[in-house]
Amino acid sequence: MNSPIRFLLFLILLPMLMGSSLQAQDNAVYLNKTAPLEDRVNDLFGRLTEDEKISLLGGASANTTVAIPRLQVPSMRMADAGAGVRGIGSSNGGPASAFPSGVVMASTWDPALIGQAAAAIGDEAHNKKVGSQVLLGPAVNIQRSPLGGRNGEYFSEDPFLAGQMAVGYITGMQGVGTSSCIKHFACNNEEVDRREANVLVGERALREIYLPAFEAGVKEGHVWTVMSSYNRINGPHASANHYLLTDVLKQGWGFDGMMMSDWHGAHQTATVINAGNDLEMPGKPRNLNPAAIKLALQNGQTTTAAIDENVRRILRTIIRTGLLDGPWQLDPTQVNSPEHQKLTRDVAEQGIILLKNQDNILPLDTTKIHSIAVIGLAADRPQIEVRGSPEVTPFYSVSPLVGITKRAGNDIAIHFAPGAIDNPAPVPNSAPVPAADPAQAQTDTTGNPLQEAVDAAKNSDVAVVVVSTFRTEGEGHDRPSMSLPNGQDALIQAVAAVNKRTIVILNNGTPVDMRPWIDQVPGLLEAWFPGQEGGNAIASILFGDVNPSGKLPTTFGMRREDYPDYGNFPGVKFRVAYEEGIYVGYRHFDKENIAPLFPFGFGLSYTTFEYGPLQLSQPTLDPQGKIAVSLDVKNTGSRAGQEVVELYIHDPSPKIDKPVRELKGFAKVALAPGETKTVTIPITPRDLAYFDVPGKQWKADAGDYEIQIGASSRDIRQHATVHLASDFTEAVPLSSDQLALNGGFGKDAAVDLAAGKPVQASSALDKFGAEEAVDNDDTTHWSSQPGDSQWLMVDLGTTTTIDRVRLFWADEYALGYAIQVSNDGQSWTDVAKTSKGMGDVEWVRFAPTQARWARVLASQPGKTGGGYSLNSFEVYGSGDHAPAASVP
Ligand code: BGC
Repeated sequence: MNSPIRFLLFLILLPMLMGSSLQAQDNAVYLNKTAPLEDRVNDLFGRLTEDEKISLLGGASANTTVAIPRLQVPSMRMADAGAGVRGIGSSNGGPASAFPSGVVMASTWDPALIGQAAAAIGDEAHNKKVGSQVLLGPAVNIQRSPLGGRNGEYFSEDPFLAGQMAVGYITGMQGVGTSSCIKHFACNNEEVDRREANVLVGERALREIYLPAFEAGVKEGHVWTVMSSYNRINGPHASANHYLLTDVLKQGWGFDGMMMSDWHGAHQTATVINAGNDLEMPGKPRNLNPAAIKLALQNGQTTTAAIDENVRRILRTIIRTGLLDGPWQLDPTQVNSPEHQKLTRDVAEQGIILLKNQDNILPLDTTKIHSIAVIGLAADRPQIEVRGSPEVTPFYSVSPLVGITKRAGNDIAIHFAPGAIDNPAPVPNSAPVPAADPAQAQTDTTGNPLQEAVDAAKNSDVAVVVVSTFRTEGEGHDRPSMSLPNGQDALIQAVAAVNKRTIVILNNGTPVDMRPWIDQVPGLLEAWFPGQEGGNAIASILFGDVNPSGKLPTTFGMRREDYPDYGNFPGVKFRVAYEEGIYVGYRHFDKENIAPLFPFGFGLSYTTFEYGPLQLSQPTLDPQGKIAVSLDVKNTGSRAGQEVVELYIHDPSPKIDKPVRELKGFAKVALAPGETKTVTIPITPRDLAYFDVPGKQWKADAGDYEIQIGASSRDIRQHATVHLASDFTEAVPLSSDQLALNGGFGKDAAVDLAAGKPVQASSALDKFGAEEAVDNDDTTHWSSQPGDSQWLMVDLGTTTTIDRVRLFWADEYALGYAIQVSNDGQSWTDVAKTSKGMGDVEWVRFAPTQARWARVLASQPGKTGGGYSLNSFEVYGSGDHAPAASVP
């Protein structure tokens, strides 16, 4: 058949062919939404070509995955969503309901309420613009330092509370069919150098503090997507960390969904694929692009099996989000619906915390008050969200000034004074403001703003000062100190000096130093970043329409020096050692017996609660059992209110170093005046356990444990003893050696014999000389000139027994290289050789050998363009390595 005829025939048959293929697909198992998930995954996987599979590992655009139109597989769309649907670009950008930030959510101690909020966010994601399927939240990293830039986005300093909030959030969001993406896995606890910071953390702290919120999100929340963090953990970047992504998350916890990188957080190809990071975001992928993946396959650095596994996980999330179940009917009325507006307010009202209420200055008594001075730039222009990716553009937002003015009504005069001239933090805020116009308030912006604030306070019955950390915190920025910026301490002091009825409202995401004024003000509210309805929620609490019930999810220390990360934050030279180990937050304050300003779990109410004695469902707990702890809680005041009842475990005779108490349960109960309800909190043996590093297991030793029930971590009201009948253990199927292998532990784990020694290289680019690789500084690096064969050699000074080197590559790594030793610096012997170098951080071990010189001879670059870059070339000898034990 000649070609024109063949072509004609093809054209005639095309519709039939297409029809039959489409029909085949229409009947295909993967398109059948009633078929079991794994059948759908297998069916779709079986239809993909090798090229299509490979294409799925990298994003398509800023916020989408690659589509496979041939099989009717559309792009999966993503949006940031910690506090509402942010959206990236025109396809899903634009306004949405702005919920309170993560720390407010956690301050509610109400996972069910947060589930409702997350369901609303999920609904808005489906219906905003073209719709999104994967929402990049919750962010569950631990608030390790009071200066952490993203603390306001994160839930808590406590892993149990963070985990329970995560479970509530994920369950609510995924209940409406949108995937949550729990992030940032793991140890993204600071923003300085966040893309390179090497977190040196021991396995016990990882297991007990930094991982449990993720573990709960996977095991209890059944999350569909996880995002790896930017930072390094004991060497490798999180996205290249096999220990974390595969051993812990996938194999250890059974996570079967999609693991994706943070934006531009993948640095190599094979290392990332093999570690278990399934998807590189965003598109156009720098490392998980088809050309690089095919090269890695050709080079034998990765395998089809590894790629297939990653593809299946991506398909699972695509199918779970309903993308293959037909078009979604968009309903834009869902976005910022009246129900959602109410929910944003509910969360703020439940999450705002009353920290001080001397002489019952609150709630304000409208029968006695005739004027209120509302003071502070943040009263007018508050920051409603954490700065950075969680920022949502609201349709409207209510400032404290507007909320208070509206609630005060016509009989109470409002005197507004900003207290400062310039706003250091213009927050893109507020389209139309409902109700009262702040311009109507008595404002005079000429003259001396501090004096005007003082005058306003002097002439008012009550002064409300709203102070903010403004834009000193947020994504990419840690706070420089705990102090309030912009002269706000002086503002509070000046106002409090003339008005004894001064109430301070905090607008922040991290604890602030309150020593300059705390004793001078009778009232204090922590409002955090309260979302679009913040002003109304603040007013409800000030005027007593809502009885405050929020409690602190983080310790408010008196001063910076009291915190456990003091001296180890943000680290130096890209290294931050978590030397405090498990003693984060109240665990540290309790252990060191440091009085916090306001303890973890603390929050006041306008009513009072009485805690009855504890009842245990049984006094003895079997290693496989469970007990219920119950008590009666009575509202002994005259207002309806809600109380958060907190359960801590205390081990009176610990066999190993342990925190004084640890939160292991809580419940929030609503009580009418005089009402009593029974609160029941379950306890399992795992709640008594610590992570036994050498034993590679969770372990609770048989014996007596004290159950403490408190209104805060420092206000324990009741206790009882439970007896664990015999040892409880839960094996953790991986060895801590793997963690050591991945990069070693703390800074004192081993002596780097190459550090500071004479060094030479075959060539160097500009200022990136050979000495940069042995200067004990991971922020600097040696770069060779382009060229396939390059070397770097170190003179150890004396003949030494060595048995391993650590290569800390910058982005230009070697695919082929040898580690060589010499006794004269001239003739070299290979002690290790590979043609499958992986980049990032590589330990190369070899039989102990005596040598004075060591070198790396690189013969094939891992990336096109040639040349090599090493942040560090480290050499170690036998007997100088003390894994695990050196860092708690
Ligand atoms: C942030 C993530 C966010 C992503 C996409 C990154 O810079 O760390 O939290 O989800 O950007 O906006």
